[in-house]
Amino acid sequence: MITTADAVEQEAERLLRALLHVDCEPQGRTWNLDTCRAIAPLTLEINRLKQERGAVILAHSYVEPEIIYGVADFRGDSYFLSLKAREARAKMIVFAGVVFMAETAKILSPAAQVVVPDRGSGCSLADSITGEGVRRLKALCPDATVVCYINSTAEVKAESDVCVTSGNVYHIVANLPTRRILFVPDRLMGQNLRDELRRRGVDKEIITSDGTCMVHDQFGPADIAAARAQFPGLKVVSHPECTPEVAAASDFVGSTGAMMKYVKTTVAPYFLMLTECGLVGRLQVETPEKSFIGGCRLCPYMKLNSLEKVRDALVAPRPDQIVTLDETLRLRAARCIERMFELSPVD
Ligand code: 13P
Ligand code: SF4
Repeated sequence: MITTADAVEQEAERLLRALLHVDCEPQGRTWNLDTCRAIAPLTLEINRLKQERGAVILAHSYVEPEIIYGVADFRGDSYFLSLKAREARAKMIVFAGVVFMAETAKILSPAAQVVVPDRGSGCSLADSITGEGVRRLKALCPDATVVCYINSTAEVKAESDVCVTSGNVYHIVANLPTRRILFVPDRLMGQNLRDELRRRGVDKEIITSDGTCMVHDQFGPADIAAARAQFPGLKVVSHPECTPEVAAASDFVGSTGAMMKYVKTTVAPYFLMLTECGLVGRLQVETPEKSFIGGCRLCPYMKLNSLEKVRDALVAPRPDQIVTLDETLRLRAARCIERMFELSPVD
């Protein structure tokens, strides 16, 4: 007969097999059997609660690895997770990520109760512009198609014509019929978009608002030059929220999902990942044979997620953990996201 102690030991061993190689320098945490034993009762409880509540847990690749590999049903980038939210037939969706991602899940799966572990998990991009701000910009360029990056509030999506993610932005904007594009809220992604479309010979005028990601705007070309001097053969992999100078000096630029795919399919002695540390953790789990040199940074919002908060949200979500949206606003925002699904490239 399996005792509680046996179940905890088995769970600790399962967690350790996944987390063994995760080594996040900024957090200074290492994984061993004792640390896994300490969290095993919690992951067992969450996995039991999930069944009882008919819940599904979606986790962005930037959240803590014990959430990603301990309790998440689906893990990935914003595009993948919004597809999963749209397909979910669950009674409850727990979104371990940031608030705009949970809002997107509620827009796409209105019948589900969608909860966020921590209501404070904002995003410097999503927080940089309001619906009113978009309306003001639209009045200045009424002939532009309004494209919003998914890192935006439901209110901003409701004001936009089409939503994009880091994985489909170039393809979708290149194929829009209008020349003039109002792109919100990421100024740096807008600049990268302008550069990439010029490289592809696509004639578009890209007007941007002034948001930036507080994590990705910190990397500079000097980080890349110093790393290349020290590690010959290094491959530099960056996210399109980085500056155009960083993008230009990188070997590959793409969404977190595309960055993972690139590393998995590229042979190189070292990789420098210019993104949030959680992605490096995922790669350490899934490609333990590869070497990553320092560089990544923490997103303070993503790091507000914890197993305890996920458990509390499953047991009895507090009002501040439950995502609610006005139905008229939700329908307008849904149109903009559905347009993205229609225009996305097929993999
Ligand atoms: P991805 O969709 O590429 O995962 O990006 C989300 C994000 O917030 C990056 O900072
Ligand atoms: Fe927002 Fe940047 Fe954090 Fe992504 S990493 S959630 S863009 S603040």
